[in-house]
Amino acid sequence: MTVAVVGAGIIGLSIAWRLRERGFEVTVLDSGERGAWHVAAGMLAPGGESAFEQPWLTRLLAESGERWPAFAAALGVDVGYDDAGTLGLAMTADDLADAARVWTRQKLALLRPSELREREPALSPRVRAGVYAPTERQVDPRKVVAALRDRLDGRIVARRVERLSDVDADTVVVAAGCGTAALTGLPVRPVKGQVLRLRGEPGLLRHVLDATVDGRHVYLVPRSDGEIVVGATQEERTDRAITAGGVHDLLHAAIDLVPGLAEAELVETTVGHRPGTPDNAPLLGRLRDNEIVAAGHHRNGVLLAPITADLIAGLVAGEEDPLLEHFAPGRF
Ligand code: GLY
Repeated sequence: MTVAVVGAGIIGLSIAWRLRERGFEVTVLDSGERGAWHVAAGMLAPGGESAFEQPWLTRLLAESGERWPAFAAALGVDVGYDDAGTLGLAMTADDLADAARVWTRQKLALLRPSELREREPALSPRVRAGVYAPTERQVDPRKVVAALRDRLDGRIVARRVERLSDVDADTVVVAAGCGTAALTGLPVRPVKGQVLRLRGEPGLLRHVLDATVDGRHVYLVPRSDGEIVVGATQEERTDRAITAGGVHDLLHAAIDLVPGLAEAELVETTVGHRPGTPDNAPLLGRLRDNEIVAAGHHRNGVLLAPITADLIAGLVAGEEDPLLEHFAPGRF
């Protein structure tokens, strides 16, 4: 059976890889545009990113997080998978009140500022409280995509798809991120995010930091080579402008949290669009007999790549996992 995957982002490539492992004749149609994966920091944060009152999404996030170690290992190269864990942090009493709701749901114990600084000496003395979340991890999405492309060598074709009816395959999997709306009519909307990359001294930070700083949410994802990804704005906008206010807010919060970052080099400013849906949970399942969709992963495309790939490759093979019914593309 031939399968065409429309979209060469982390979701499309992961699905194609799993399909190829199952013996399908797969082609990935690559529009050439870099999707959200190129901007994403690569936080694997099933607890911090899960939503209240969305138990199925919470379960999907958690199960995918559990699959990441094996997924990364199977890629066979270093993709920056790092299990040092995350510090959730709050700068002020108001920030703490806000963050505590999420930490209570995660059943994480509150740490004192001195305990936090033992773990992360570069933190500002102004940090009021925090938690350690050992199962909130990170990976480098750019390395993951490069590894997946290697795995799919010869199966990726440069082609922008305008209409699904033009794609010649027994089954078409639409994994086109924000482009899924134009191809299918499904309600996928772009949610703008501005992200910075700094270069500091390697080892300045040991954990992912996920913080609320004077009401601003910011996360810092440190790589072993000294890169620190600072994210992210969340804006219901379609433009690609990198704004003074966006960069200011991210840098302000990051330097308040880790004053030593004032010395870091600002090496990259990027902007992308998360594919959001009306409930911000993904659309996973069959659209028509020979059309399947895997899109709308919003803030969690990187985290959800392993489980999405397994569920969709299974569906192509005729295995309909009961979990899929909660993410049916026709639910709106
Ligand atoms: N997962 C973090 C973000 O979308 O900004």
